[in-house]
Amino acid sequence: MSVHKNVKKVTTHTLQEMKNSGEKISMLTGYDFSMAKIIDESGMDIILVGDSASNVMAGHETTLPITLDQMIYHASSVVRAVNRSLVVVDMPFGSYQGNSIEALSSAIRIMKESGGHAVKMEGGKEILESIQRILTAGIPVMGHLGLTPQSIYKFGTYIVRAKEEQEALNLIEDAKALEAAGCFAIVLEKIPSVLAKKVAETVSIPIIGIGAGGDVDGQVLVVHDMLGINNEFNPRFLRKYNNLHDQMRTAFEDYIKDVRSGDFPNESEQY
Ligand code: KIV
Repeated sequence: MSVHKNVKKVTTHTLQEMKNSGEKISMLTGYDFSMAKIIDESGMDIILVGDSASNVMAGHETTLPITLDQMIYHASSVVRAVNRSLVVVDMPFGSYQGNSIEALSSAIRIMKESGGHAVKMEGGKEILESIQRILTAGIPVMGHLGLTPQSIYKFGTYIVRAKEEQEALNLIEDAKALEAAGCFAIVLEKIPSVLAKKVAETVSIPIIGIGAGGDVDGQVLVVHDMLGINNEFNPRFLRKYNNLHDQMRTAFEDYIKDVRSGDFPNESEQY
């Protein structure tokens, strides 16, 4: 029997217990089998199959173009790799904003076809009916407030959200509404840390931050960003744990050199 079979899986209940006991939650995006396998092995609590796949995997400027089919493809690759982490799948732009019936059928497709464990949706009160309908089908929902990249054309810029009092008050009300509806956690993206702290103290479900300071219940980053694969993205909130861009480029250049010089393959690398 594989050792992995004995691993205690992270569930939405585990996350709630972690918040209750003050244990911080780790979350990272993942989009493919090989990367997700390493992330899962590392002991990550949550792998988010983010619609940021639209940017880092497909090279689009925004998260808007990625389709439900493409999200399901990424999510099913991640699910096949995972033994322990909770796999949360982003509902892509256009798959839930229309009406709650369409939202439910999109969420059901994600759960059935990818094997993911939960979905994430951007927005507050305006999508509450859809969230409620999805929850009644037994599908766990993670909320996402603050800078919600699917609304980038409404915001016009990726700067910090909710610095103004009214937007901050609305965000707190939205967080309360998501909790009351039954969401198991909320991502807060790029908002002042004081506001994020207030939300984490106000609601009892876990608050996971990205660019929202340290006084929340957990953190999430995009895996390509924290590994330093893309050296052109350097926001203040990003801590880079590696410089894979340079390391990979050097490896590729070394390989080209070895192929061109005939050094690769050598005697022991052939049959
Ligand atoms: O798609 C994504 O990667 C996300 C994170 C930034 C939270 O939603």
